[in-house]
Amino acid sequence: MKDLAHYMRPGTLQLGALPPLSLYVHLPWCIRKCPYCDFNSHEMKPGQLPEQDYLAAVVADLEQSLPQVWGRGVHSIFIGGGTPSLFSPEGIDRLLADIRARLRLEADCEVTLEANPGTFEKDRFRAFRDAGVTRLSVGVQSFNDAHLKAVGRVHDRAQAIAACEEAADAFDTFNIDLMYALPGQTLAHLEADLSQALSLSPPHLSVYHLTLEPNTYFAKFPPVVPSDDEAFAMLDRITERTGAAGMARYEVSAYAREGHRCWHNVNYWQFGDYLGLGAGAHGKLSFAHRVLRQVRYRDPARYMDAARAGDAVAQEEEVARADLPFEYMLNALRLREGFLLRDFTERTGLPLSAIEPALARAEARGLLAREPGRARPTERGFDFLSDLQAMFLPNP
Ligand SMILES: C[S@@+](CC[C@H](N)C(=O)[O-])C[C@H]1O[C@@H](n2cnc3c(N)ncnc32)[C@H](O)[C@@H]1O
Ligand code: SF4
Repeated sequence: MKDLAHYMRPGTLQLGALPPLSLYVHLPWCIRKCPYCDFNSHEMKPGQLPEQDYLAAVVADLEQSLPQVWGRGVHSIFIGGGTPSLFSPEGIDRLLADIRARLRLEADCEVTLEANPGTFEKDRFRAFRDAGVTRLSVGVQSFNDAHLKAVGRVHDRAQAIAACEEAADAFDTFNIDLMYALPGQTLAHLEADLSQALSLSPPHLSVYHLTLEPNTYFAKFPPVVPSDDEAFAMLDRITERTGAAGMARYEVSAYAREGHRCWHNVNYWQFGDYLGLGAGAHGKLSFAHRVLRQVRYRDPARYMDAARAGDAVAQEEEVARADLPFEYMLNALRLREGFLLRDFTERTGLPLSAIEPALARAEARGLLAREPGRARPTERGFDFLSDLQAMFLPNP
């Protein structure tokens, strides 16, 4: 890790102010690897988790990173994975105390923890809340036993329902993760999953199209999944049904009741900053004259060694000036409400003239709408999002 003067030296960008800062902590273990999953997660028996050593490494990593975020308040923390609910509530309590002792958390700091709906995890939900977690994200995926089996989940429908009920009781706000276009799933199955999810009145739903990611078991042995047309029909139903239940689709995959958007994810999409701690964690940090991206060592053992030795960062690079418009749009155009033109200038350090021609072209194609001080994707722009985003590539 370089010294602070290196990050503060003059550069080609001029950021007017630093964006809000979030903290991401990656806990990289799961009981079993799901066949579709390309996240940095590794199989581990719960009893064998090197919890103390890992958390000590995360805190060492945080200490080494402090000069890069000196004096800045933290608006949200996201403890993701992997399966963070495999960690003990005492471990999470200590982790949050260690973070609070080193960083200034804003009074309303959102603290999310990802949980799997296994029975032994459900019994810990209240203890996670007592440790300071304010928001639980439950990885349900489906309420259909056959489909849960088809995507290799370790829990069943009954456990998923029990976990969501417990999350609703224990937390003021929580999220359910669902996936659709699952092997063997019909529109009627999807409707049933949605009805079940909505009957639990979740304040927030994340619904993802199952993707067959490279380097997963499913990439090697692809299951038969619904056609693109069927998947489109499913997405339409998801938007309709959630809308009727009072949830707005505020981002491509995110639906929320008023006041329950995920602050942490919104900060990513608004091109805010985040310090990423833990194995393979990604981070983005702004300085007066540059925007930096970092990646920590991916292998948990290697990460722990590196953090203990004083530098857990495997890769660090400045975002090139020419790449900033696309990087910004990749995030901001995922939001239904788009972005403030002022935020573009503030967060990239570039003048508006850098994107003016692309904005005009996107508007002419009906993919983007402009209002005073703001630009947002149109209905059509949302449907053809990657085309819209690509218009901001350095040489389209
Ligand atoms: C980082 S995962 C962690 C949550 C937790 N470990 C779990 O699986 O329940 C976050 C979410 O991403 C979604 N996801 C993961 N892999 C996916 C894939 N290949 N296609 C679509 N969604 C995926 C799942 O809904 C999952 O809950
Ligand atoms: S439980 Fe979540 S993070 Fe773990 S392998 Fe399955 S999808 Fe990936």
